[in-house]
Amino acid sequence: MPLRCTELPPHHARPEAMSTLRWPVEDLWERLEPQLPGLSVEVLAEVDSTNTRLLERARQGDTAACLLVAERQHAGRGRQGRAWQSAPGASLTFSLGLPLSPQRWGGLSLAVGVALAEALHPLLRIKWPNDLWTLDDHGAPAGKLGGILIETQGHASATRHVVVGVGLNIEAPPALPDPRHPVAWLRQLDPGLTAAEALTAAATALVGALKMFELRGFAAFARRFAARDLLRGRRVRTTKPELPEAQAEGVDEDGALLLRDAHGLHRLDSGEVSVRPC
Ligand code: BTN
Repeated sequence: MPLRCTELPPHHARPEAMSTLRWPVEDLWERLEPQLPGLSVEVLAEVDSTNTRLLERARQGDTAACLLVAERQHAGRGRQGRAWQSAPGASLTFSLGLPLSPQRWGGLSLAVGVALAEALHPLLRIKWPNDLWTLDDHGAPAGKLGGILIETQGHASATRHVVVGVGLNIEAPPALPDPRHPVAWLRQLDPGLTAAEALTAAATALVGALKMFELRGFAAFARRFAARDLLRGRRVRTTKPELPEAQAEGVDEDGALLLRDAHGLHRLDSGEVSVRPC
């Protein structure tokens, strides 16, 4: 039987941190457990960070697959050590932790991005390496709708415990966004969509994509990524001092970003670089 917080609190959860809202826990478990035997699906009203929680469990030896949803995170984390702010009710925050042993790891965040974008809306695009963006009516980048944070535990063997964290804006954020960092939300694209529906679509696609990635790596996603690549063909700015501005030319077979400037073609691993459309 899976752990479900509506019935049984996970050992880390304070009883008051259990969710009272309705989430499709049973339905998700029935859909996903055949692909991830031993899976638990849990929903918490509040946690520090769903990624932090699943990594902690893995460090303590609990490496069973787990889909952990939080209605509120008080220490949500984004890429490059940034905080991830999300308003309860206006956003969906969840992580999937599982053991994974692909032959090559390159392009994993792009594969996850492809799965989420395809599952959620035809107009979603992936901004290398891990953001979901919308387009405006002219096909220009409009705003960031979601982010992906992938972390792993255990480097010694071919199998690592992977935690894929996903944060999606469902509704408009309560505070006006900084115009330098435009945001978007799913109800702009699909006004009737609920967080529970988005979770079902996103989590189902995510599990399928991770199983496919384990078998075939980024090769299975490369063409689908190209169809949703936000940056391809656009001028971009990067935080790499020697490459302030360039033209994006897609990604290579490991998911590294290809940028061209007057000095030639450059290859960027996701590492510590930020890239923005000009
Ligand atoms: C980014 O855009 O920098 C990635 C943001 C990832 C946020 C999600 S929300 C669920 C999971 N838990 C976290 O603390 N972070 C990820």
